[in-house]
Amino acid sequence: MKALILAGGAGTRLRPITHTSAKQLVPVANKPILFYGIEAMIAAGITQIGVIVGDTRVEVMEALGDGRQWGADFTFIAQDAPLGLAHCVLIAADFLGDDDFVMYLGDNLLEQDLGAFVRAFEQARTTDEPPTAQILLKRVPDPHRFGIAELDTAGNVVRLVEKPADPPSDLALVGVYLFDSTILEAVRAIAPSPRGELEITDAIQWLVDQGRRVRQEELTGWWIDTGKLTPLLEANRLLLERIETRLDGSVDDASIIDGRVVVEDGAVIKHSTLRGPLVIGTGTVIEHSFIGPFSAIGNGCEVRNSEVEHSVIMDGSRIIDIQRLEDSLIGKEAVVSRSQVRPRALRLMVGDHCQIDVE
Ligand code: DAU
Repeated sequence: MKALILAGGAGTRLRPITHTSAKQLVPVANKPILFYGIEAMIAAGITQIGVIVGDTRVEVMEALGDGRQWGADFTFIAQDAPLGLAHCVLIAADFLGDDDFVMYLGDNLLEQDLGAFVRAFEQARTTDEPPTAQILLKRVPDPHRFGIAELDTAGNVVRLVEKPADPPSDLALVGVYLFDSTILEAVRAIAPSPRGELEITDAIQWLVDQGRRVRQEELTGWWIDTGKLTPLLEANRLLLERIETRLDGSVDDASIIDGRVVVEDGAVIKHSTLRGPLVIGTGTVIEHSFIGPFSAIGNGCEVRNSEVEHSVIMDGSRIIDIQRLEDSLIGKEAVVSRSQVRPRALRLMVGDHCQIDVE
């Protein structure tokens, strides 16, 4: 079993952050989203991993390395333009060969163990009616935003549609799929959709139309497509729920630690209150501040005379004299400061290297 993880694409919905960075590298609970998918694959026993990279390839390749430190073997496959999920399979044909593989969308986060999903496919492949594909479904309140599956009364997949205006069900396709090599025939057979992409949904529909068996499973745990700000903050919240207190940095006697808090090595906390769950990255300085629940402050940041809650602050950023910053995503090496203090909360999405001075 191999894996194909998709880390190309455009990332328009997380602009301005994704003007300069890969959306899959935005951190949640201080770890890039993409790393969770890679770790899930390795935990499922898959080590031959193909990574689709696009415009942000340099950054993604640098973040992942060659795989040795993960105990895995990465093959980077460059995609010139985001021509669709099925296009990713097409350009990965040489890497995939005849092997079965799991395809994982690099901006998706799942609570459920990937290993159980992979084993279920492998088990089903030994039966009289082996599936050629397996999809994972989750009921959603906004089905027009996803690929949607229609099942018959026996639970067989009969139809799949991408972001339908009039959804036939509320069962969304989660961004984790299992395929055998028949999918290569499918991606060669389909034509681009009206939005100009080779859709994996159409390729799976092609399998159904050819009378191939597509196994489906409904996901039990949470699933988040992190492509937008609100789900990204939600993912950050869910992952911070899992942390355990670890104080490796220095916390002075004038500071208060309340709840589950991680202070990484080299971080300095002075005259501040940290109310978890939250994480403070390596080398970050927090002074005369309040950091509230569900905050992830990256490495090398500075927060002074400010209140931060339910926010992701990326590496090297500075928050200075801000009365209250909440529900925000602050890019790398950004500065948010104010010269006059006014009693108002700020909700911001700030790109990398920006400077915001609130008058
Ligand atoms: O998140 C689940 C949904 O993902 C499914 O329900 C949909 O059926 C599926 O089409 C997909 O929809 P999105 O619109 O959310 O896909 P997005 O364009 O965000 O791409 C998903 C990931 O794949 C993302 O990490 C970027 C990467 N990608 C995307 C395209 C189109 C590539 O690497 N190359 C591409 O050409």
